[in-house]
Amino acid sequence: PKDLPLKGKKVVVTAGPTRERIDPVRFLTNFSSGKMGYAMAEAASDLGAATILISGPVSINPPSNVKLISVESAKEMYEAVVEQFDNASIVIKTAAVADYKPKEVHDRKMKKQPGEATIVLERTTDILAALGERKTTQLLIGFAAETNDVTHYAKGKLEKKNADYIVANDVTEAGSGFGTDTNSVTLVGKNDVEIHFAHLPKKELAIQLLQTIMKLETAESK
Ligand code: PMT
Repeated sequence: PKDLPLKGKKVVVTAGPTRERIDPVRFLTNFSSGKMGYAMAEAASDLGAATILISGPVSINPPSNVKLISVESAKEMYEAVVEQFDNASIVIKTAAVADYKPKEVHDRKMKKQPGEATIVLERTTDILAALGERKTTQLLIGFAAETNDVTHYAKGKLEKKNADYIVANDVTEAGSGFGTDTNSVTLVGKNDVEIHFAHLPKKELAIQLLQTIMKLETAESK
């Protein structure tokens, strides 16, 4: 892209899954590959931003020109994001953060026992909601993975979490969501903004999302 709408801005992107430990050899996680978040970070950097990528465990390479901070759990991701938040211009929460973690983390490998086993889970901190409460001038962009009533739930999250935009992902659609190289999303924002982006490579989609958001924001401030 020739023009650099994010020049002079600090953009923080979260990506990938989190891992919530059960014992030294086991954990809870999800199918996020990090591709969408890494594409957002690369796009932010290409559009001129000083970009920080806070990533859960993934097996893809980070884009060049971004600062990578690797984390494991939802708690570590929360701490890393909060540390970067105050002087950030834009925070993009593409990560698929665990909503629950084991209440007890065993120091030793859990042994097999006859019959059923139970792992008691407790809630993790909702990072996006915490940032929504803390935000002053930052533009807060969340993602939402949904399987039904995608736009409806995305609008709910926009309000509940005090985000400026939610990028809603229908993860049941073929070629969309977890692990794929392409994605289809609906960008939902204040003032009834609702824009659909159909089936694009994640990198191309990331550029279009950021360009669209920057246009909407400059139109608003005029
Ligand atoms: O990584 P890929 O394989 O490329 O897949 C991309 C993706 C499907 C993971 C991505 O496009 C996506 O939709 N990410 C958000 C997934 C998600 O966790 O959605 P959610 O509806 O559970 O969460 C909504 C928002 O709250 C997200 O911005 C999430 O980062 C945030 N959240 C959720 C839980 C939590 N404890 N803290 C959070 O901040």
